[in-house]
Amino acid sequence: MRVALITGAAQGVGFATAKMFAGMGYHVVLTDVQPLDTQIAKLSAPGGSVSALSGDISSEAFVTELAEKVACDHTALDVLVNNAGISMICPAEDTSLDQWQRVININLTGPFLLCREFGKKMLARGQGNIVNVASIAGLHGVIDRSAYNASKHGLIGLTRTLAAEWGNRGVRVNAVCPGWIKTEMDEADQGSGAYSDADIINRVPMGRFAKPEDVARAIAFLAREDSFINGVSLPVDGGWVADASWDALRLKKR
Ligand SMILES: NC(=O)c1ccc[n+]([C@@H]2O[C@H](COP(=O)([O-])OP(=O)(O)OC[C@H]3O[C@@H](n4cnc5c(N)ncnc54)[C@H](O)[C@@H]3O)[C@@H](O)[C@H]2O)c1
Repeated sequence: MRVALITGAAQGVGFATAKMFAGMGYHVVLTDVQPLDTQIAKLSAPGGSVSALSGDISSEAFVTELAEKVACDHTALDVLVNNAGISMICPAEDTSLDQWQRVININLTGPFLLCREFGKKMLARGQGNIVNVASIAGLHGVIDRSAYNASKHGLIGLTRTLAAEWGNRGVRVNAVCPGWIKTEMDEADQGSGAYSDADIINRVPMGRFAKPEDVARAIAFLAREDSFINGVSLPVDGGWVADASWDALRLKKR
């Protein structure tokens, strides 16, 4: 049975991805800072094969423990999905060092540690693939998100570097770059009054938010065993990054 590890699997994109991989016949290892009992029950009920370990992916000790658990329970890890992440909306000039470091630690250092620990084993086996969940905020600047955007630009840089470094040893590394997705992260961000549904819907050529399943499908596509795709940062954004039109022009086409 193929094995996939999904970080940030308690909710949102992570849970949708775990559900998709379980449905594709993978054994899915869930991890999150939150407890995962409910998620295990939900995925096991329809016959999914799942296990879990809760902890903080920005902790080197936890990532080592997780790698040891996976190595102990399974012959190999086929797919690593680095999905866990946090948002932070704050003007750059008001962002404290603590805020900056927390975002970079979780969104960039955590994925690096996971790539390093699981990548070593994939390289030794000559097989495996990694999908990092970046953002369109890793491809463009978005106001009031300096730490978040820097972390996602960094994650795309890490993706390209590992793709180049590991590609000839059987390990592919890609990223997805979602636009705004309807998840708990969006609800919390909108709760602060930073933007509205209409702001996002008007900006997207396809006229809607991404759904967690849209992103999960793109992750599953990049993770296909027979793929020759390596080092891409795939927008999953309904056309957002392709569209440089001003709002009035775009909305004339609705
Ligand atoms: N929601 C959006 O609009 C959007 C857009 C583009 C990219 N993304 C990215 O997609 C990914 C998933 O986002 P989401 O919308 O599902 O968010 P979410 O907040 O709904 O879920 C994120 C999950 O990550 C977990 N997590 C946070 N810190 C962690 C840590 N230190 N260790 C382990 N787990 C941790 C949370 O507990 C949560 O379950 C994130 O990387 C996010 O940056 C989200």
